[in-house]
Amino acid sequence: MSVAVKTICCIGAGYVGGPTMAVIADKCRDLKVIVVDLNKEKIDSWNNEDLSKLPIYEPGLKELIKRCRGKNLFFSTKVKQSIAQSDMVFISVNTPTKQSGLGAGEASDLKYIESSARSIAEYAIGHTIVVEKSTIPVKTAEVIKTILISSQNDLKKKSSKSFSVLSNPEFLAEGTAIDDLINPSRVLIGGESTSSINALVNIYKNWVDEEKIIKTNIWSSELSKLTANAFLAQRVSSINSISALCEKTGADISEVAKAVGMDYRIGKNFLKSGPGFGGSCFKKDILNLVYICKLYGLNEVANYWNEVLEINHWQQNRLTNIILKKLFNTATNKKIGILGFSFKANTNDTRESPAINICTNLLIDGANLSIYDPKVKFQEIYNNLKDFKNSEDISFNYEDRICMASSYEELANGADAILILTEWNEFKKIQWSKISKLMRKPSWIFDCRDIIDLNDFVESDLNIWKLGFGSNVDNLK
Ligand code: UDX
Ligand code: UDX
Repeated sequence: MSVAVKTICCIGAGYVGGPTMAVIADKCRDLKVIVVDLNKEKIDSWNNEDLSKLPIYEPGLKELIKRCRGKNLFFSTKVKQSIAQSDMVFISVNTPTKQSGLGAGEASDLKYIESSARSIAEYAIGHTIVVEKSTIPVKTAEVIKTILISSQNDLKKKSSKSFSVLSNPEFLAEGTAIDDLINPSRVLIGGESTSSINALVNIYKNWVDEEKIIKTNIWSSELSKLTANAFLAQRVSSINSISALCEKTGADISEVAKAVGMDYRIGKNFLKSGPGFGGSCFKKDILNLVYICKLYGLNEVANYWNEVLEINHWQQNRLTNIILKKLFNTATNKKIGILGFSFKANTNDTRESPAINICTNLLIDGANLSIYDPKVKFQEIYNNLKDFKNSEDISFNYEDRICMASSYEELANGADAILILTEWNEFKKIQWSKISKLMRKPSWIFDCRDIIDLNDFVESDLNIWKLGFGSNVDNLK
């Protein structure tokens, strides 16, 4: 048996809520899909006629919005009315790491989840299926349920409403969100009520093979999401730790990764070394895992996962130290070009981007930064650097020290070094011979994303340093 669902609503029009609902709307034309957000500016952008002004950039998103918006997909700030008319409400609000109070620095702040649950409790009519989409600590469904049940038991409203809670974590990665949603490796649905689970299965069945839809208890679903992200992050830290060893021993990280990844038990994905993982999920989810483990007295497990974060941080600081060493131990009054600021290619998202820490380290050492990213706006970069709490608690006159370059030439002009931090495809086409002429000598290129082919530089007067390449970097010169 399943409950008939005609209208769904999603609280949170962010990186997860927006694309997820766009795909559902496109695949289920009989369903009315409303995405609500407290942020009016964001909703206005989602409703902008000019599709290049959508609040997030994801390949394929514009086309979906064009097809569905105003037909069966709506973006609105009317939380109350939208919840009231929905049979199913997804919660896709952000769950940042707590900044103060109990669990500060580790636990997820559930204040938005709680306020969403309270809004649903207040405005829902009849039976409502509540779906946790946000990544949340295990047992959060309990919080949501408690809030909903207390409203259900409220004598005045009693018979008019009832709820069931499901966990349906997203596994989409930014930059490939639409493809990940259309062709998911699996869809995970945790819950107790068979009819509610089936109602959600019926939505996904419109485009996902039923054998890819896993039904679990709610706690397994919540924990699977945290564990999946922790495992992915662990692979990045593992390969990054080996990148340092490669530089010392003369091995090349790309060769090692290839050889290791060809073992089918290990697999080739997620073995690219770089400046460390960023994004809204990995750090937050591991911190969460660490917090939960400590809460249950599993200190060894907590320490084990914490090490994944430690290595990530260490990799970023290690990079800065290498750069400074090559620049005669100081960046003071040197111009450094930064290619890429988003946490990875094909997204305008800068949350937890390694660029933030690395740029801050360079600013602390006195550098002037000229930054180029194809999708990230200067204001976003500026705010990120300004708001970042650096280890030395130094504040800068940011206006004078950072600027946005509008071309590679502008970025390179007079620069002592250029740092490649994001693997944007267009960086692979840079004509380094032109760039070389504009830089101050001796000039350095630091390739932290394995974009440069060293064979192209044999004749060049540029000094190249590639992350994780021990064999051919220093002896190139
Ligand atoms: C998602 C998940 O929900 C989060 O748990 C996961 O770990 C990271 O990805 P994301 O979509 O990336 O979050 O967050 P964001 O882009 O910040 O969008 C959340 C939206 O919720 C924001 O637009 C915010 O304005 C909105 N919001 C927040 C509400 O509408 N109501 C609230 O009470 C709180
Ligand atoms: C991640 C998970 O992949 C996704 O399933 C989950 O739902 C949300 O979190 P996302 O943060 O969008 O997605 O990006 P992802 O592609 O996983 O990359 C995360 C970070 O790891 C990026 O900074 C990326 O550059 C880095 N990374 C990834 C590497 O350094 N090397 C790799 O081989 C892979």
